Amino acid sequence: MLRRLYHDQPESFAFTPANQAWAEAQITKYPEGRAQSAVIPLLWRAQEQEGWLSKPAIEAVADMLGMQYIRALEVATFYFMFQLQPVGSVAHVQVCGTTSCMICGAEDLIAVCKDKIAANAHDLSSDGKFSWEEVECLGACANAPMVQIGKDYYEDLTAEKFAWILDELAAGRVPTPGPQNGRYASEPLSGLTSLKDHEAGRDGLNASARLAADIGDTVKRIDGTEVPLLAPWGKQSGGEDTPAAAPAKPKAKAKPAAKAKPAAAPAPAPAAEVEEAEPELLSAPREGREADDLKKISGVGPKLEELLNSMGFWHFDQIAAWGPSEIAWVDARLKFKGRIERDNWVAQATELTGN
Ligand code: FES
Repeated sequence: MLRRLYHDQPESFAFTPANQAWAEAQITKYPEGRAQSAVIPLLWRAQEQEGWLSKPAIEAVADMLGMQYIRALEVATFYFMFQLQPVGSVAHVQVCGTTSCMICGAEDLIAVCKDKIAANAHDLSSDGKFSWEEVECLGACANAPMVQIGKDYYEDLTAEKFAWILDELAAGRVPTPGPQNGRYASEPLSGLTSLKDHEAGRDGLNASARLAADIGDTVKRIDGTEVPLLAPWGKQSGGEDTPAAAPAKPKAKAKPAAKAKPAAAPAPAPAAEVEEAEPELLSAPREGREADDLKKISGVGPKLEELLNSMGFWHFDQIAAWGPSEIAWVDARLKFKGRIERDNWVAQATELTGN
């Protein structure tokens, strides 16, 4: 199946402040120079915010991670969990059409989708509430046929039961996920053959269905306010979750040979902010030279390169010459603070100068 960007794209994308803080905190989970590893969670959060992934959203995530746009696009187009076109405001339904489900009635479920949602996959229903698509095996083959709606599975479906589930969702109610034929889990349809004294959990629901019902987020989108989902590794010393999941503050690198201080000042250095100092700025590349390709520095994408050029940085040697004070100056003017040290631009630039 071809997965392409939608023909009608919004002008721009920006994370909400809560999602922006969450996204920046995610990046701190990865080692220096490996911020790109956060691409899937960030794309997912962008999709949770908007319902689908637009081109500006993919580019915004790529910019945050210092990736080439094509790299982020490759991820977004590879995984079917990413929706590249608008989806229903209530739910996007994914019907498994692989062998077990197909044998057990997936085609009947698809017929329900065509009847109640839209004739073609990925088209919105006339009220805009639903969309659907056929997907490959979702790993619940023992409970075929099944669909994924939002974050949960509805299993052991019939066409009638599935149609009822869609009606309930349209009416603002969320049926309990899990097996829909009275099965507890994926035990034999003919009854238990072992572990016969097993007792069903509360309300007769298995743990997954129980949790889904308790959380109640089947078709609810994550909006950035879920405190327990904020970076737990970013807890403050008191154990409190940081509400805005403050991204790890880059520590100013200790200068190897601190400039000599007056002898009469033995007090230990306080954890003060490094004083800013303006680095060498150029209005254009040096005479007779072309601008260096700053994108060769891992963590610098096209947008950041543009920004650096506009600030007056064209050459690797300019960046290689930055000390802590210069880094503090540039950092204060960059949109994504801390990137310089996290991705170790100075060492990278030094290497690229050939020194
Ligand atoms: Fe449908 Fe595996 S075949 S879940």
